Amino acid sequence: MKKIGITETVLRDANQSQIATRLRREEFAGILDTMDKAGYASIECWGGATFDSCLRYLDEDPWDRLRFIRQHIPNTRLQMLLRGQNILGYSHYSDDTVRAFVRKSVENGIDVIRIFDALNDIENIRTAVDETLKCGAEAQGAICYTISPIHTFDMYVELAKKYEALGCQSICIKDMAGIMSPQVAYDLVSALKKELKVPVVVHTHATTGLGSMTLLKAAEAGADGIDTAISIFSGGTAQPPTESMVYTLQEMGYDTGVDLKVCKEINDFFKPVEKKYLDEGRLNPSVLTTKIDALNYQIPGGMLSNLIANLTSLNALDRLDDVLLETPKVREDLGYPPLVTPMSQMVGAQAVANVITGKRYASVSKEVKAYLRGQYGTPPGKINPDLRKQVLGDEPEHVGRWDDEIEPEIPKAKAYLGDLAQSEEDVLSYVAFPAQAEAFLRRRKNTGTFEAEYSFAKEE
Ligand code: CO
Repeated sequence: MKKIGITETVLRDANQSQIATRLRREEFAGILDTMDKAGYASIECWGGATFDSCLRYLDEDPWDRLRFIRQHIPNTRLQMLLRGQNILGYSHYSDDTVRAFVRKSVENGIDVIRIFDALNDIENIRTAVDETLKCGAEAQGAICYTISPIHTFDMYVELAKKYEALGCQSICIKDMAGIMSPQVAYDLVSALKKELKVPVVVHTHATTGLGSMTLLKAAEAGADGIDTAISIFSGGTAQPPTESMVYTLQEMGYDTGVDLKVCKEINDFFKPVEKKYLDEGRLNPSVLTTKIDALNYQIPGGMLSNLIANLTSLNALDRLDDVLLETPKVREDLGYPPLVTPMSQMVGAQAVANVITGKRYASVSKEVKAYLRGQYGTPPGKINPDLRKQVLGDEPEHVGRWDDEIEPEIPKAKAYLGDLAQSEEDVLSYVAFPAQAEAFLRRRKNTGTFEAEYSFAKEE
């Protein structure tokens, strides 16, 4: 029987894509023990935006949240998403910080770290992969899938081979925008299965309506794993539904290992949670329906809604068409970066600025400047030399690896926090998100332990 693993995303990507990562610990605590019995290959539950959201919005210690999940899910592999040298933030950190963050993630319960870089620059995942291997966890190298004149089929296959050679024990094709077609998935997975020894996993989003078909064709081509979300939090901007994929694959003779009876319990548990978010207006029904714009414009749905929000706040929504025409031009100037965090924000903001000021690159963010200097790594294509000259003047090209010049952040943070930090994890929270973590640590100090407030004693 053909085997295929299912990674459940309700706690991380589906939570992030549908309800802006607002799921609180007490809203899912009661179902963790059941989730452990479902037979998932892994449960994606940490990393991505969950860390930021815990500190910024939920008043939760992200590390404590992870330990709690581990305690209630002792058997199933726990998975996180890591942005390589950006860890869970939006700029580059020193190698020391990356290593400490990876080590603490594994120590606190993570089994699989899916590591990606927004530019698919292997140098930006090297340190995180190396440390993951040293800690005995699985390093899954993720390649961002995008469509551009330079992103050829062969480019993805070559990159996957390099990731495997680096030591990655599995490879993920990460289609953050939901624009990978079923046929491309079939062809790409077929090629990867031929070229690689390690398992191949496919991650997509249902946004454009292609998701389930794409995963099915990936399975037919021999994918070893797919990402899905329990049905009540599936579809739209999230992943295709777990139960429907399992049902379909079982009928076709695949062994997913997943028990649909347990899935029903999990889904029943989350039904009132979804209803509450809908009733309170915190789950916008528009994220649940099919949006074909990402296919038409080849930009992710989240980026499109950001562009609309930015233009609305500038009273310039009538310029949306101009911005949508400008976006691919900015992308070309920048060497075709995949549109994923933080590149999607940088490209989008630049396109808006170019249109609104009426003068291209008259205003350039410090992030785009840093990008042009090479501080984010090597772009997939060539940066427009005229643009570099316009923004950076005659500044000579930097020699060597920028990240080697970043001063270690941890000693300074430790000294600054003093007794506010009670663990290395606290220090890492501060290094990743200084303002949010400091506010959190101060509240914790003033009000006693947060653990008492969020403890969940029901299920032991
Ligand atoms: Co995703």
